[in-house]
Amino acid sequence: MDVPRAQGGASLLISWRCEQKRVLVVGTGHVAASRVLTALEADALVTLYGPRQYLCHELTVRVERGEVEYMDTWYDDSRLASFDLVFSCHHDESLSETIAADCRRLRVPINTADRPTLCDFYMTSTYRDQSLQVAVSTICEASKLANRVKRHIATSLPANLGEAIGRVGSLRRRLRQEDSGDEAVARRMKWLAQICEYWSLDQLAKLDDIAIEQLLKGYREDDEGYHSMQSFLEPLPPSELVSTLASSAIIPSSHTPPTSISPQPGKIILCGSGPGDPSYLTMAAYDAITKEADLVLADKIVPQEILQLVKCELRIARKFPGNTERAQNEFNRMALEAANQGKTVLRLKQGDPYLFGRGAEEVLFFRQHGYEPIVLAGLTSAMAAPLLAGISVTHRNTASQCLITTATGKQGSRIALPQYSSTRTDIFLMSIHRLNDLVQELTEQHSYPPDIPTAIIERAGCVDQRCIWAPLNGIVQELERCGGSLPPGLLVVGWSVGVLRPVDLPVSGVGATMGAVNPSRRENISNTLPKAVPDQLLGLHDPHGLW
Ligand SMILES: C[S@@+](CC[C@H](N)C(=O)[O-])C[C@H]1O[C@@H](n2cnc3c(N)ncnc32)[C@H](O)[C@@H]1O
Repeated sequence: MDVPRAQGGASLLISWRCEQKRVLVVGTGHVAASRVLTALEADALVTLYGPRQYLCHELTVRVERGEVEYMDTWYDDSRLASFDLVFSCHHDESLSETIAADCRRLRVPINTADRPTLCDFYMTSTYRDQSLQVAVSTICEASKLANRVKRHIATSLPANLGEAIGRVGSLRRRLRQEDSGDEAVARRMKWLAQICEYWSLDQLAKLDDIAIEQLLKGYREDDEGYHSMQSFLEPLPPSELVSTLASSAIIPSSHTPPTSISPQPGKIILCGSGPGDPSYLTMAAYDAITKEADLVLADKIVPQEILQLVKCELRIARKFPGNTERAQNEFNRMALEAANQGKTVLRLKQGDPYLFGRGAEEVLFFRQHGYEPIVLAGLTSAMAAPLLAGISVTHRNTASQCLITTATGKQGSRIALPQYSSTRTDIFLMSIHRLNDLVQELTEQHSYPPDIPTAIIERAGCVDQRCIWAPLNGIVQELERCGGSLPPGLLVVGWSVGVLRPVDLPVSGVGATMGAVNPSRRENISNTLPKAVPDQLLGLHDPHGLW
């Protein structure tokens, strides 16, 4: 099993609950004032030591308001043992050493300003928005830079994130009340994870009590959450629908016969982006993305590394559960509108456009509106993911066929599953969110042996690719043991799954691959290629016959 190696030298970042804990601050200036405020915000009981004549304005006010217990002295060691935490923030070096030595003797954690060797813990640079706290630590190397990093992070966060977090918190508490019990934990977590993953932060921030009631109603009726979300989505604001595209452009109606349309000479390209890393793009896709497109309309699961190649306007589909139809229609309309203005529109789709990518539907739609799209093949995750995880989907005498299927029908509906065949490898896309049911259905209704080897491959071809393997009847527990899924992922079931697994590897486990060193992982290739090859094209060359 792939166990991460610890890289020493870090500090342990924790979020300490110090409600009603006793915190001592020794000091009179602005650093002491800032520590007092931090401790008060964490609901600690704060005691301040420092001669009155030196107290800065802020501390004087807090003393007058009775927000802190105050002692008009630099130090008094008689009470030290009663504190849970000490901040020593003044310029008297020998006093700092005395306090630190006393604290260590009594095992009271201390932070001494500007004296890292006299600290048991360092302060972080923090940003707070209600329940959201972001802490940046440079492990005392460059605290000024930590501030800048914090500002950088804070300005990149959406304005209402704290509020959104608060709303999710209330939803979680309601959910716990409504659906209590140990057996409900996984169900609740999965449902809430769907919402956190796919809803926009704006929508989360707007969750009011009525909306929460509606959502919970949906939860009771449909534990996947798809339909409940659909029911209360707000209409998209028109400005977001058309964004930078001219809102006055005429979109031909779907009832208009193609012959009556005289579009501008725009072009529509449907393009597969492969499973993840840009090195799995085809040359044609790479050229279309980087050189040809005027507008890229990308699926939500196309990874950031590929999106970073886009040089023109980029829009990302808002396909979260419950909104897929609207997002699809929205993109179709945007594509037509831009093509009618003479632009080259690239619909960028994960994997291959024709494998569960709705590519054919789009071709039919654009045809109906007078455009014959160019379709560029992509490497499908269904084939790439098993290979990248060290699974050969066919193998002589083990698997003579493989089957690719979805485990989820249109709009989250159930679909007919295949009957077991011992010589076939089955690849289930869109399956992990309903893994429990799927495993049960396969074993109880479709004759799959409970001990048949299976693997979940997640984020295949990305730097954080993960493979979880186990016999079919243990895969749900193995996934839970890893803390749940990291979408997108797929499930591979078949005797071929174990063929390349090294003999010393356990039958269940987790790693980037199933133990096999996979020569097609990008890191390995990059190390062996001549440096002159442009980075984005690495995977498209095969100087060493690795592909
Ligand atoms: C709507 S389908 C699109 C499939 C895509 N057209 C293809 O050819 O890969 C989405 C599903 O593909 C699978 N998938 C896509 N990218 C993946 C990846 N990098 N790793 C594992 N599974 C992936 C997951 O099962 C996901 O639920």
